[in-house]
Amino acid sequence: MRVCHCHNVNDRQLAAAIDEGCHTMRELRFKLNIGNTCGRCLPQAKQLLNTQLMQIAEPTARLKRVSGF
Ligand code: FES
Repeated sequence: MRVCHCHNVNDRQLAAAIDEGCHTMRELRFKLNIGNTCGRCLPQAKQLLNTQLMQIAEPTARLKRVSGF
């Protein structure tokens, strides 16, 4: 699914960038050039970023709760 039409960036590219360590909108904008023309893609990109960060964080948080750390 295309997220940024101006720079032809899709959700898989966004997910890969997040996996590679882009954990802020600033980092995603710098790496993929999203949002730098019309900006209409930013809300969807932000939502995808937040969803993926929650998926990354949840197993760690669950492990900490179980282990007591
Ligand atoms: S849709 Fe991403 S900058 Fe226009």
